[in-house]
Amino acid sequence: MELEIALLGGDGIGPEVLEQSVKCLKAVEETFNHNFTYKEANFGAVAISNTGKPLPASTLDICRKADAILCGAIGAIEYDNNPSALIRPEQGLFQLRKDLELFACIRPVKVFPSITRNGILNNKSIAGTDLVIYRELTGGIYFGEKQISEDGTTATDLCTYTEKEISRVAHLAFKAAKNRKRKVTLVDKANVLATSRLWRRVVTEIAKSYADVKLECMYIDNATVQMMQNPAQFDVILTDNMFGDILSDQGSVIIGSVGLLPSASVGRDNAMFEPFHGSYPQAKGKNIANPVASILSTAMLLSHFDLKEESNAVVSAVRKSFHKKIVTTDIMGSSKYGTDYVGNFIANNIVDSDDLGNINDENIGLGKSTII
Ligand code: IPM
Ligand code: MN
Repeated sequence: MELEIALLGGDGIGPEVLEQSVKCLKAVEETFNHNFTYKEANFGAVAISNTGKPLPASTLDICRKADAILCGAIGAIEYDNNPSALIRPEQGLFQLRKDLELFACIRPVKVFPSITRNGILNNKSIAGTDLVIYRELTGGIYFGEKQISEDGTTATDLCTYTEKEISRVAHLAFKAAKNRKRKVTLVDKANVLATSRLWRRVVTEIAKSYADVKLECMYIDNATVQMMQNPAQFDVILTDNMFGDILSDQGSVIIGSVGLLPSASVGRDNAMFEPFHGSYPQAKGKNIANPVASILSTAMLLSHFDLKEESNAVVSAVRKSFHKKIVTTDIMGSSKYGTDYVGNFIANNIVDSDDLGNINDENIGLGKSTII
């Protein structure tokens, strides 16, 4: 298959983790005889420094024409600490999501049995967790009108949803559930918000055409508790932009590190793949960032194009790295391996990824969690 892939390294650890993903994609090309071409483009705080804009027109153009976009991370401390900055890296991400209509963000949260934890969540309560969040990505409070009064003492963020915005992501969630455990949980705040009540009406109607999928509705406050107490009860979680943002980060507590979580943001004509994590500027250039979230995002990219065997080869190589304890320090505090080493190991094992039989299956106890 021929694929043109836009590479948006972005800020902080973004370029470093992206580099490991490209190694993996090249290994896939070689092993499975594909031809991928790569186009690097400016994005995020680094693009603001270079061009004055977080998403320069040339980057948007490259992304629009590409078959897929692979993104590292965006964000920089100088903007986090300056709420009054008028141009911000995040605006580039929002514009990209909006202009390419990447309306559904798919965020799987799946426990790797070889990584055990002794932290707040014990292994029994999270065992078997395999859920996926379908987060609406181009509407809601993120994109509603924002106002601040002249005296700066009152601010408003408008939350708006249309039936169409709800139904297009809902259909994707129900279709996904059909091939999984056949349950959709709509997470909302319908006891308070008019938009949530619209979500309930639209989604309940859509559920009728997916007879073999069970729909359950849950308030966001309860869902956050349920996700910590018994995450294995969930299959597909369908929710709006804001609640989806919050719930998906909560997923990192279940998995053990935000450095392990990939995502796909899809629309009708474009798709972007990126880790959930931020740019972790404190770790930039130190070769300590976990490349797995980015590498698993490439696995999602491959399965988006129906390259299932290729995608499985990437995931198997990642699992092999866990079994062999070739991991970064967020996974195992005592590990001596860096971003590069882990990336090379995974890329080298894509060629021959299914010999897990001979691997020493000792569990890895989680190290300190990273703050990316
Ligand atoms: C995410 C991120 C972004 C969001 C930030 C960087 C604006 O947290 O993709 O989850 O809130 O959507
Ligand atoms: Mn987020």
